[in-house]
Amino acid sequence: APASASSSGLLGFRGVPPSTADTVVVPEGYVAQVIAAWGEPVGLAGHMPPWRSDASHSAADQAAQLGMHHDGLHFFPLEGRSDRGLLVMNHEYADEGLLHPDGMTNWSAEKVRKSQAAHGISVVEVEERGGRWQLVRPSRYARRLTAFSPFALRGPAAGHPMMRTAADPAGRTVLGTLNNCAAGLTPWGTYLSGEENFNGYFAAPKQLDAHQRRWGLDADWGYRWHAFDERFDAARHPHEPNRFGWIVEVDPFDPQSVPVKRTALGRAAHEGATVAVTRDGRAVVYSGEDARFEYLYKFVSRDAIRPGGAKVNAELLDHGTLYVARFDADGRGRWLPLVHGRGPLTPANGFADQGQVLIQARQASDALRATPMDRPEWVAVNATTREVFCSLTNNTRRGTEGHPGVDAAHPRARNSMGHIIRWREEGDFDGETFTWDVFLLAGDPANPRPEAQGNIRGDAFANPDGLWVDARGVLWIQTDMSARVMGRGEFARLGNNQMLACDPTTGEVRRFLTGPRGAEITGATMTPDGTSMFVNIQHPGEPDNDRSDPAEPTKHSRWPDGGRPRSATVVVRRRDGGVVGA
Ligand code: FEO
Ligand code: CA
Ligand code: CA
Ligand code: CA
Repeated sequence: APASASSSGLLGFRGVPPSTADTVVVPEGYVAQVIAAWGEPVGLAGHMPPWRSDASHSAADQAAQLGMHHDGLHFFPLEGRSDRGLLVMNHEYADEGLLHPDGMTNWSAEKVRKSQAAHGISVVEVEERGGRWQLVRPSRYARRLTAFSPFALRGPAAGHPMMRTAADPAGRTVLGTLNNCAAGLTPWGTYLSGEENFNGYFAAPKQLDAHQRRWGLDADWGYRWHAFDERFDAARHPHEPNRFGWIVEVDPFDPQSVPVKRTALGRAAHEGATVAVTRDGRAVVYSGEDARFEYLYKFVSRDAIRPGGAKVNAELLDHGTLYVARFDADGRGRWLPLVHGRGPLTPANGFADQGQVLIQARQASDALRATPMDRPEWVAVNATTREVFCSLTNNTRRGTEGHPGVDAAHPRARNSMGHIIRWREEGDFDGETFTWDVFLLAGDPANPRPEAQGNIRGDAFANPDGLWVDARGVLWIQTDMSARVMGRGEFARLGNNQMLACDPTTGEVRRFLTGPRGAEITGATMTPDGTSMFVNIQHPGEPDNDRSDPAEPTKHSRWPDGGRPRSATVVVRRRDGGVVGA
């Protein structure tokens, strides 16, 4: 038996080796099928523009097609079925070199619109026949939300003076969602999505004020949207950035519903939102902030979830208490309330009201002395064991000059490999204190730098990002080594990005899937019967400068169909129809 086929009763497959091939590899006895690639029509009745392999489709076409850079996703069964349902997914960002036949040359309003249309969220209907999945087109559920779709603002920051703009003097309607990363599911049947690093979409004023500096508005991801859409010029519209960085809630079963930005959950570079439920039925939402030395949050709803689905729980996430985490050296921790008037969060310290505390959640967390973390990405909850896991993907600035040093929760300086932290709330999920440990340190045991070797029991990996606990209690770990490091130096032996299964009881880790070149693996969900698993393959062929060369779009990858590389969903099934991973 291979070295990785060891004791765990939870993991029933033979691990796969690291791979540098431009393909998806799954274990013996499994098959992987590609569906829902970037540019395929989502299935809007009367508007199903086909994919064009030279990317010559228009902005209007793109707004009816799957977006770029698939990220978190969730399968919502229709009538509880495991052969038909809605797949809802995020499209994190756009690679302008792949999106247009001539990249960013001849930059135009049409190109800006197309880039915005390639962002956001898709809802597609999918069905399985004879072991093969396909999109149902047209579908009455099919939907695209883009960087120009209307979203309602709700909760304490809705209508706040800092949310008002020339186009929206009421401060209650935002056009668009951006940089959507991890996916979450609510018990009432809606989809949650995090708006992550939105700051670099805006052109910054020459002189940043303290608030703009704290939120990194001087970053520039190079989109140049402001050239043709002036609300992305923060010098002219300084409040527009305040309207991003929220958790978004979508009811996938009602295509007419207006999606909502839930301000009670705080503003951050939200990776995503993961829901746990207290014994008395209140919702607890965990969210990491994928940015160096930023924070981990938890929201506890005031009210209990009511039976009856999305409509009766439409205001559940508007009332409650937001907390930020502090990890103490003794293995305990505390959730610090972000409540106006409590502790330092007073007008004397610049916090006028609860809306401002939420819009400036980073400044409020600074004032509360929360723990600055190593880029907290996905959070996963095991409702049975009540363990909560969070991936800290990396932070190469930890312990370097001018930055915070190591602490108990971040034990490695120049944390290039990342780690996973675990905690249990004291009392119920709403507890204000918890106990925690470092669940594992990622890395390759053969690394020459001892601090980068990690302590994984089983198959080596680096840069954990996606995390998900399935119905059997398997902790699925997905990696996001960037193209700048993949296959080089300390990462040389780890191959392409991958997905691994971990038995949290034994700590054993086994590699389940390896991705094509340049791609990260992100998002995991299964049908209710566990026989189909959906994962997203994001940015195959990613160049090490984030933008592909339009003259050579296939230089780094031709996945999945031999042409221009495209993000897509992969469905993984066992040939014998059994439960995936078992
Ligand atoms: Fe968008 Fe942190 O991944
Ligand atoms: Ca991520
Ligand atoms: Ca990535
Ligand atoms: Ca990442």
